[in-house]
Amino acid sequence: MPESLIQRTLVLLKPDAVQRGIMGNLITRFENAGLKIVGMKMVWVDDAFSKKHYSAHVEKPFYKGLEEFITFGPLVALAIEGIEAIETIRKMVGSTEPKKALPGTIRGDFAHHSYPYADKKGIAIKNLIHASDSIESANKELNLWFTSEELHTYKTVHELHVF
Ligand code: CDP
Ligand code: MG
Repeated sequence: MPESLIQRTLVLLKPDAVQRGIMGNLITRFENAGLKIVGMKMVWVDDAFSKKHYSAHVEKPFYKGLEEFITFGPLVALAIEGIEAIETIRKMVGSTEPKKALPGTIRGDFAHHSYPYADKKGIAIKNLIHASDSIESANKELNLWFTSEELHTYKTVHELHVF
C-alpha cells in the first residue's frame, strides 16, 4: 500500500513566537493555505522532554543552546493535516537560519537571526518554529507530543473547495 498523500505533521510555535505575540499570525498562514489543525495545546517543556524531542541533536555542539531556547517559556504544539503536509509546511517554514530563509516563508518574514550572531552570543538560532522533516519523524513526534484522544478528525470546508 502506498503512503497516503494526506499527512499529519507536528509544528511547534517556539517560545520566541509565543513571547513575541505572533502565534495567531503564524497559525493564520496554515489556515489560509487550507491546512487543517487537528491538535493544539500550550506546553512548557522541561530538559528531559527536550532531549526526547531533539534526540537526533543531543550530541551536537548547538544542543545546549537549543535546550535553553526550547525550555525558555511555553510553546504551542500543533498537529496539522493536509495534502503532502510535511513537505508543504517545511516549505512554508523556510530555512533553519532566518537570515537565509526566503521572504514569504515564516522564518524569512518574521525573523532575521544568523548563525554567526547566535554563535557569538552562545545561543540557539532564534527561528520561531519547528516542523517535522519526514514521514518517520512526523509519526514519532506526533506520538511524543499528542495522545490519540488529543488528535481530532472532522471536516472543514476546504475538503469541499480546496482538496
Ligand atoms: O528546525 P530545523 O529542522 O530547520 O533545523 P535542525 O537542523 O533540525 O535544528 C533544530 C533546531 O536547532 C533549529 O531549528 C535551531 O533552533 C537549532 N539550531 C541551532 O541553534 N544552531 C544550529 N547550528 C543548528 C540548529
Ligand atoms: Mg529538524
